[in-house]
Amino acid sequence: MKNEWILILGAGSAIAIATARRFAREGYNIYLASRNLEELNIEAGHQKIKYKINTKALYFDALDYDSHPAFYADLENKPVGVILAFGMLGEQEEAQKNFSAAKKIIDTNYTGAVSIFEIIAGDFEDRKKGFMAGISSVAGDRGRQSNYIYGSAKAGFSAYLSGLRHRLYKSGVSVLTVKPGFVDTKMTAKLDLPEKLTAKPEEAAERIYKAIQKNKNTIYIKPVWALIMLIIIHLPEFIFKKTKL
Ligand SMILES: NC(=O)c1ccc[n+]([C@@H]2O[C@H](COP(=O)([O-])OP(=O)(O)OC[C@H]3O[C@@H](n4cnc5c(N)ncnc54)[C@H](OP(=O)(O)O)[C@@H]3O)[C@@H](O)[C@H]2O)c1
Repeated sequence: MKNEWILILGAGSAIAIATARRFAREGYNIYLASRNLEELNIEAGHQKIKYKINTKALYFDALDYDSHPAFYADLENKPVGVILAFGMLGEQEEAQKNFSAAKKIIDTNYTGAVSIFEIIAGDFEDRKKGFMAGISSVAGDRGRQSNYIYGSAKAGFSAYLSGLRHRLYKSGVSVLTVKPGFVDTKMTAKLDLPEKLTAKPEEAAERIYKAIQKNKNTIYIKPVWALIMLIIIHLPEFIFKKTKL
């Protein structure tokens, strides 16, 4: 068993669980942090037995910024890597009418992520090692009518991760931006997604694991998404604004 810990934030997500299991398979100990402690304790117990590692379920709320410094300070074993998976798609139409709904989407995907990542970045920078991975979204690559509140928060998060990567490079800390495209999870359960463009959480986990091993900067889970987004980003505005995307 390695004596190294990985911290998973938003550990109830299917992508997060699959990624935690991928690291557990390699013998890393796992902190699973999110709001649903009951579910997390079951998953922590499962990983402990199956992978013969140490695990711990921790309460973490991305929106409770004031709790973030103590949350990290209280970790008995500081992690060698962190994966930030929490996020919230929300309802675009509701967010257009109700600013508090919009703010919750922005704060969950952006403000909460910056709050906890700045704390962890400071520690990794001092220790001159570690990796940080953030799950952003292709929705942040270009604002679209169907999800621009969520997309703009993810755009902010992608820009944040880019700057963090630049800052931490000289300290030997790697920062990975993950743009999943479609993944079959509870977030997308109500959406009718094209099968060929939709990844399973285990496929996402494998790509994330390998990208971290190779110190990659940014990945799309299914490589075809890099091409799709290249086209979408370069569509001239006079054409783009007439589309129904
Ligand atoms: N699925 C996709 O197609 C897709 C595409 C692009 C990007 N993403 C991104 O991938 C990440 C994982 O998403 P997913 O698809 O696996 O969705 P998910 O199953 O809905 O997972 C999202 C997780 O975020 C957690 N979360 C939300 N608000 C939180 C808060 N205030 N504090 C702590 N945790 C909070 C949720 O915790 P609870 O269990 O406590 O609610 C949930 O476990 C998200 O960042 C999402 O934006 C997903």
